[in-house]
Amino acid sequence: MCGIIGVTGRPSAVADIVAGLRRLEYRGYDSAGVVAQAGDRLGVVKRAGKLDRLVEALDGSPLEGAVGIGHTRWATHGAPNDENAHPHLDPTGRVAVVHNGIIENYRALRAELDGAVFASETDTEVVAHLVARELDASDGPDLLEAVRRVVGRLEGAYALCVMSDREPGTIVVARQQAPLIVAARDGVGFCASDVAALIEHTDTCAALLDGQIARVRAGAVEVVDADGAPAEPDTYRVDWDLSAAEKQGYEHFMLKEIHEQPTAVRETLLGHDDGAGNVLLDDLRIDPAVLARVDKVFILAAGTSLHAGMVGKLAIEHWAGVPVDVEVASEFRYRDPIVDARTLVIAYSQSGETIDTIAAAEHARDQGAPVIAVSNVVGSTLARMADGVLHTRAGPEVAVASTKAFTTQIVAGLLLGLYLAQRRDRLFPSEAADVLERLAVLPDLVRRVVEDDAAIVAAAERFRDVGYTMFIGRHGGLPIAYEGALKLKEVSYLHAEAFPAGEMKHGPIALIEPGALVVAVAPDDHVFPKLVSNVQEVRARGAAVLAVATEGSRAALEPHADVVLTVPDAPLELATPVLTVLPLQLYAYHVAVLRGADVDQPRNLAKTVTVE
Ligand code: F6R
Repeated sequence: MCGIIGVTGRPSAVADIVAGLRRLEYRGYDSAGVVAQAGDRLGVVKRAGKLDRLVEALDGSPLEGAVGIGHTRWATHGAPNDENAHPHLDPTGRVAVVHNGIIENYRALRAELDGAVFASETDTEVVAHLVARELDASDGPDLLEAVRRVVGRLEGAYALCVMSDREPGTIVVARQQAPLIVAARDGVGFCASDVAALIEHTDTCAALLDGQIARVRAGAVEVVDADGAPAEPDTYRVDWDLSAAEKQGYEHFMLKEIHEQPTAVRETLLGHDDGAGNVLLDDLRIDPAVLARVDKVFILAAGTSLHAGMVGKLAIEHWAGVPVDVEVASEFRYRDPIVDARTLVIAYSQSGETIDTIAAAEHARDQGAPVIAVSNVVGSTLARMADGVLHTRAGPEVAVASTKAFTTQIVAGLLLGLYLAQRRDRLFPSEAADVLERLAVLPDLVRRVVEDDAAIVAAAERFRDVGYTMFIGRHGGLPIAYEGALKLKEVSYLHAEAFPAGEMKHGPIALIEPGALVVAVAPDDHVFPKLVSNVQEVRARGAAVLAVATEGSRAALEPHADVVLTVPDAPLELATPVLTVLPLQLYAYHVAVLRGADVDQPRNLAKTVTVE
């Protein structure tokens, strides 16, 4: 999910490239880099970390050139360090490449380059080596032809920008299953992942189609197909302006991602129903007989993913009838968990790069347990190390506070619960078909909640300065209480904690005094009457109560709460958490905005946690 940009024909291409990268940073900010040609040499500056680090480096060591390409990285292959930052060059430094996507056969290609020394762990670098070798071929191909020959050998997904000092002023780009646009205007040539990067230069672009390759020069773009024959890209005009380009019109990525949940949930459900009551999990790759024998499941995860795993536990125990422990990944490997070949480990991680989760999964696998990864990132470390994968299809999540990854992880857990139940002969196809049919309405219910946040904004205004918020819930409401508290603390920096509602009387209720706020996750489920009693207990002690209800529980809650936020009734009880979390995501967001916090990049946090 990296961002790429190329500019040729400007007095200082680097300034334009950096400005474009700023608007592509949402695609990833593990590292950033730029290469430009001045005279007969390519100059490169690249840095791990956010774009600002690259900008600082460029301040200290300016890079000149009328042609250049830049990259902001969302790491897939290789750690996010300076070496793995793009651009990547061939060993002679004469060919430079930036890439978005995954070259799946890069190992085989590397192996063919016998004796070649690679400076990075990336899948991309091999492309620079291969293009350089093609340029040296005896028939003397130009850069376009050299790139055409190389991409013919690549497997996987790519948007590539390539430049060479042998052809000053030229950028060659190629696309396969990763977005890439080209444009030419007023004597300048451009290419980028996304029109957002170019919107200040042009509103007319051409999207390359899969297999197309283009030569971008000052003021001119020439497109060919995979055979080198002239080809037509898909030209279009955009009708939005620069301000909308960065976050697609949303004030923050967090809000954009909250609003992407109807689509994310729909995408995650897609393709797993064979229409005859069988759940299909094609990437699971674990022998069904192994799954049938499992006598214990560990769900391992961190943060928001851990809370999604708590819902997964309920689904797996309910449908598959096997005991599930949900474990904080960073604790798991430092004790003596009882794990063997009949233990199934399910590791949830949006990024697939969380070191705690990977290490815990490896620890279990070393003791013989099969490992399933639930990950949002194709090709992530966790997905690669696991025996099987269930991908959430939330699309890139940029805001540090996870939202759409969470709801799609819950959906993944429900699918896994059904799948395991079928492997263990605990669910008839007709029962599974019924559940799948009900789940199909979830995306529309999610849409109804996120599109109407007036009551949530009012609640945020009312409670924005409450210093202590206690979240409570039971059963499927408990993971949502944990998640609601995490969201509020991480984006607004307000003190928030969550407790099982029934545990309050064993201690936490001592914290309640007039002025405290209790958020009760109170859907119409089988534990609702018990939860109402707990709500009454805190209200009697002076707390204000903000309740998240479903349509079925609203009337019963109203006498006991100061504010009731209502979501539709879920199509089945185990899917209710997908809906009840939505008002709490929006509540945390609005409180943070009202308090002036940096919503998308909260203090002290990082999106992908690759240290212990
Ligand atoms: C909170 C949040 C984090 C992550 C946690 C695990 O909003 O985003 O708590 O959930 O760092 O990350 P992944 O899922 O990438 O392993």
